[in-house]
Amino acid sequence: MADLAKEAHAAAPVPAGEPILEVSGLVKHYPLTQGILFKKQVGAVKAVDGVDFVLGQGETLGIVGESGCGKSTVARMLVNLERPTAGQIKYRGEDITKLSGRALKAVRRNIQMVFQDPYTSLNPRMTVGDIIGEPYEIHPEVAPKGDRRRKVQDLLDVVGLNPEYINRYPHQFSGGQRQRIGIARGLALRPEIIVADEPVSALDVSVQAQVINLLDSLQNEFDLSYVFIAHDLSIVRHISDRVGVMYLGRIVEIGTDEQIYEHPTHPYTQALLSAVPVPDPEARDHRERIILTGDVPSPANIPSGCRFRTRCWKAQERCALEVPALAVPAVFRIGDTPAKHDSACHFAEEKRVVPTE
Ligand SMILES: Nc1ncnc2c1ncn2[C@@H]1O[C@H](COP(=O)(O)OP(=O)(O)OP(=O)(O)O)[C@@H](O)[C@H]1O
Ligand SMILES: [Mg+2]
Repeated sequence: MADLAKEAHAAAPVPAGEPILEVSGLVKHYPLTQGILFKKQVGAVKAVDGVDFVLGQGETLGIVGESGCGKSTVARMLVNLERPTAGQIKYRGEDITKLSGRALKAVRRNIQMVFQDPYTSLNPRMTVGDIIGEPYEIHPEVAPKGDRRRKVQDLLDVVGLNPEYINRYPHQFSGGQRQRIGIARGLALRPEIIVADEPVSALDVSVQAQVINLLDSLQNEFDLSYVFIAHDLSIVRHISDRVGVMYLGRIVEIGTDEQIYEHPTHPYTQALLSAVPVPDPEARDHRERIILTGDVPSPANIPSGCRFRTRCWKAQERCALEVPALAVPAVFRIGDTPAKHDSACHFAEEKRVVPTE
């Protein structure tokens, strides 16, 4: 195990103050077609519609938002499973959306994905050893053939599985164990960044914490930066340093976990947080519940101005006309320590929705 950690990615530390990943203006539009042979484009599903964020080295950025808001589409673009319609993804200062061939392959090695569903993402006909070692077929320079079995056994050990299980098949493992296999495969190439798309959503609540704790300890050991996607706000808080809240293809508020959870300023974040169950009955009685009205609009038909305005209790005329920038808003809280973080709302203001201890 120590061996593996020593073999950490060869890349030099990112210069102080510079992010390892910088995403700007990221867009993914899927064409909506009609007619014979579907040749006529009649619109677009704006799955991701202008996403900006930075990820620091060793940091965990959580991304939360309701189903369909574009989280997985962002994840697929980060690991290059999908090409963006527009925008930049800078890894160590270089825009990887422009790369191809060998340069792209080298970058892909450093940004790996852990998928949501450990039941369907592992090939049932391959042994665990072949699944975890598969990335070495594409990057043989990382592990020469004679070395692979040992490397895979080390990886099994690192994720808390018995190295003797190397010849078993996925169906012989529980859900939590399968996700450990998925994580081992994600680590095989010694990446710098792991994009985890709802890595525990398909698991029993009782094993979710174990997998989260594993990811947490691997982060230190292997010097990893995480983009951690989930719709469960409590899980994201547990693991993230910063959190971005997505709505209809955009990040509408982003800040440290304390800023987002204790001092949310965007009405959408406030509504999401007010729906999180609170175990303490007294605290529950003291907080305000915000019930959102209306459905999430279709990503093929995004409202003008602020995309959240059709469900927002604060919406005014200005909201239909002007797109609010994701920036520290001018209007702030009436309190002692203002929550200075980016929030895409013309009328951003802190509202306490989570009870204080
Ligand atoms: N290949 C595609 N073609 C057309 N539309 C797509 C495609 N992939 C995703 N979409 C649409 O883009 C939007 C965003 O999808 P995405 O899977 O990124 O959301 P999500 O936030 O990951 O949702 P969930 O929480 O359910 O996983 C959805 O409306 C979805 O239907
Ligand atoms: Mg998804």
